[in-house]
Amino acid sequence: MRHLLTTEGMARAEIESYLDDADEFVDVLARPIPKVPALRGKTVATLFFEPSTRTKMSFDKAAKALSADTVSFSPGTSSLKKGESLKDTVLTIEAMGLDLIVVRHEATGAPWRVAAWASVPVVNGGDGAHQHPTQALLDSLTLRRRFGGRRGGLDGLRIGIVGDIRHSRVARSDIHAFTALGADVTLVAPPTLLPLDTTGWPVVTAGTLDDVLPELDAVYVLRVQAERGGASVFPSFAEYRSRFGMTADRLRRLKPDAVVMHPGPMIRGVEIDAAVADDPRCLVLDQVANGVAVRMAVLFQLLGGTRGDASRPVERPAERVLVGGEQ
Ligand code: CP
Repeated sequence: MRHLLTTEGMARAEIESYLDDADEFVDVLARPIPKVPALRGKTVATLFFEPSTRTKMSFDKAAKALSADTVSFSPGTSSLKKGESLKDTVLTIEAMGLDLIVVRHEATGAPWRVAAWASVPVVNGGDGAHQHPTQALLDSLTLRRRFGGRRGGLDGLRIGIVGDIRHSRVARSDIHAFTALGADVTLVAPPTLLPLDTTGWPVVTAGTLDDVLPELDAVYVLRVQAERGGASVFPSFAEYRSRFGMTADRLRRLKPDAVVMHPGPMIRGVEIDAAVADDPRCLVLDQVANGVAVRMAVLFQLLGGTRGDASRPVERPAERVLVGGEQ
């Protein structure tokens, strides 16, 4: 059985295979009826123990666009409140009959535990500060469509990942995906927001954004994760913004075709100025849109969808012919 838990160790061919399928699903999503019958009869469960807007809703939309059913678990109104364990929660939900679990959890490694207990494929929707593989795939798709077209990797692209890298599962997943696809990655952060040890990471580091800005093709801005302690390790948000914020002035100093990305949620006025967030060179909403197509590709591959059904329109219900006085 195949899971998607991490981008660490993923081969370039596997990443490209997800991106190639996602490209096809971008076309499906642009149709007047953005739906194919590829996963009819399957059920996808979303178990989100941490808040989410983008990941949870886009998995839901992706499943429905493939004609799968969805069930959703809300921890705040569940029997977790009565003391039920994660294991019993997973086994209980699985016993209702489902085909794939997407799990987000604040504890690093929780999706691996869920995968050990469950008998269906598991997708990591984000675990602690560890991994967020579908975010890395959607970011890679966004960069490839912007710079490379519809095939291949990100060879030669220079990407700066800026900000709270220490607490970022997005950074950890992106680093592996971007470099597997041939990009060069520079981490830009104050020492207190870098991991204690980056030995073995396929990156270089820079202490100031202004030093590397003119060389970058993409500036990937991260949110300061106050909920994980990220805001307590520098003097003030104003000081952080002055050194690491993606300001309107820094946008002007980028290469003309360079882009700005952000996984969301953005904190305008801290790591990114409103003028940058709303600029056409900021791809944040392209990332969100591509997230649906990428998650369709992931569900399709892990659930073994039929190729022919991945592009075939869903059948419209036959028009009812009224006969002999029937109302
Ligand atoms: N980027 C991301 O994971 O956003 P959500 O927390 O809204 O899912």
